[in-house]
Amino acid sequence: MDGTKTAAKPPNPAETVTLVENSSGRRWDLPVLSGTIGPKVIDVRKLYSETGYFTFDPGYTSTGSCESRITYIDGDKGELFYRGYPIEELAEHADFMEVSYLLLKGELPTPEQKRKFEWDIAHHTMVHEQLTRFYSGFRRDAHPMAVMCGVVGALSAFYHDSTDIYDPHQREVASYRLIAKMPTIAAMAYKYSVGQPFMYPRNDLKYADNFLHMTFAVPCEEYRVNPVLARAMDRILILHADHEQNASTSTVRLAGSSGANPFACIAAGIASLWGPAHGGANEAVLKMLTEIGSKSRIPEFVKRAKDKSSGFRLMGFGHRVYKNYDPRAAVMRRTCHEVLDELGVKNEPLLDLAMELERIALEDDYFIEKKLYPNVDFYSGIILRAMGFPTSMFTVLFAIARTVGWVAQWNEMIEDPGQKIGRPRQLYTGHQRRSYVPLHRRG
Ligand code: SDX
Repeated sequence: MDGTKTAAKPPNPAETVTLVENSSGRRWDLPVLSGTIGPKVIDVRKLYSETGYFTFDPGYTSTGSCESRITYIDGDKGELFYRGYPIEELAEHADFMEVSYLLLKGELPTPEQKRKFEWDIAHHTMVHEQLTRFYSGFRRDAHPMAVMCGVVGALSAFYHDSTDIYDPHQREVASYRLIAKMPTIAAMAYKYSVGQPFMYPRNDLKYADNFLHMTFAVPCEEYRVNPVLARAMDRILILHADHEQNASTSTVRLAGSSGANPFACIAAGIASLWGPAHGGANEAVLKMLTEIGSKSRIPEFVKRAKDKSSGFRLMGFGHRVYKNYDPRAAVMRRTCHEVLDELGVKNEPLLDLAMELERIALEDDYFIEKKLYPNVDFYSGIILRAMGFPTSMFTVLFAIARTVGWVAQWNEMIEDPGQKIGRPRQLYTGHQRRSYVPLHRRG
């Protein structure tokens, strides 16, 4: 979608690493590829065919799954760039539509490009009227992420004219439909859970304002979107928009690599994001803070988090990539104070608890040694609860934001000339070949 083809860079012939088979002393030289910034990679695409060896990396801690030009993270420095722009600058100066255009197209939009993009998105925010009937099939107390998985996956049953993934125009229409309809579908999930009528999107409202209106307005009276809350919502969407090859983005890429339609791929991403180790952490943080209840109990929970046998982890802490403060968490903490101030919340016990927990954890040798810092999910729940969202909606908001990242990464994968279906191998540790034993001779 960004108009230029990504092509696998030729190996740097001057640079190779040598793999040696100790038993026989055989040697293989593997090419090393360099990116713009960040770690170099050892190109193992021919490793199995040339050596008979697989690599083994179950959590992909040392594995680059693709070449990408969208988002860069430096975990040691705590840096995050969208198309080269630092997240702090985008959160401060841009809005979510501008950032969405940047992630999709590769460049910040001109005023005219931004105006047209916003118009295009706004005119895709309605959903097919029949889709509203899906909701009545769910229990009122269904988790909204379950509703999102179901309804977003069902979009492919309504929009057949944008499922040909090899047609760039259809890909763009599907991309815009997904970005535009996620807030509508999410707001409908919330309205259904509280028994209120659905509110239609309004084309005169900006993206974040429209979402707040669809969520909190009722037909009986005028609803004025609070501009401070709308700006905070917009910034939260920017912070969550993309994040390199995280679990849900990798899920979208893997689903898309088989040629599955974009609506099915994004539904798969929503399912992966739901997990408490990933996007579900913002909901888990609030549940954890509520369980801690008072500052006096913080040491007890920190102790549990350090005890492997407890199975308990400090939710909102730690990250596979960040071994420094998540730059998004810092912006989120500032936004938290802004929102609480705007709402006149002078004393938010959960925020006091979160800040004390952060202070204690960051002074604890266990967290220092393992480089565990607050991540994007640590403060987001406090803001969202103050804005009126139920805890069960927190990950839904994450999914709304991340849809543009998933869609941008999905387009990049489809446009990659080197793209193949994702098909990892394994280290097999099961039985050797053995013969069937008839039932009467067993037991
Ligand atoms: C997101 O990938 C992304 O980019 C995700 C995300 C995005 O924008 O897409 O940034 C969004 O998912 C943020 C993360 C939200 N999840 C949580 O807050 C859940 C709590 N965090 C942990 O579960 C954990 O930190 C992970 C899952 C986030 C990262 O796990 P890793 O990289 O697999 O790290 P690990 O489990 O190997 O932990 C390393 C060590 C372990 O101890 P040892 O085995 O080395 O002795 O640190 C410990 C862990 O036990 N550890 C924690 C901890 N996180 C890691 N101990 C206590 N509390 C924690 N939170």
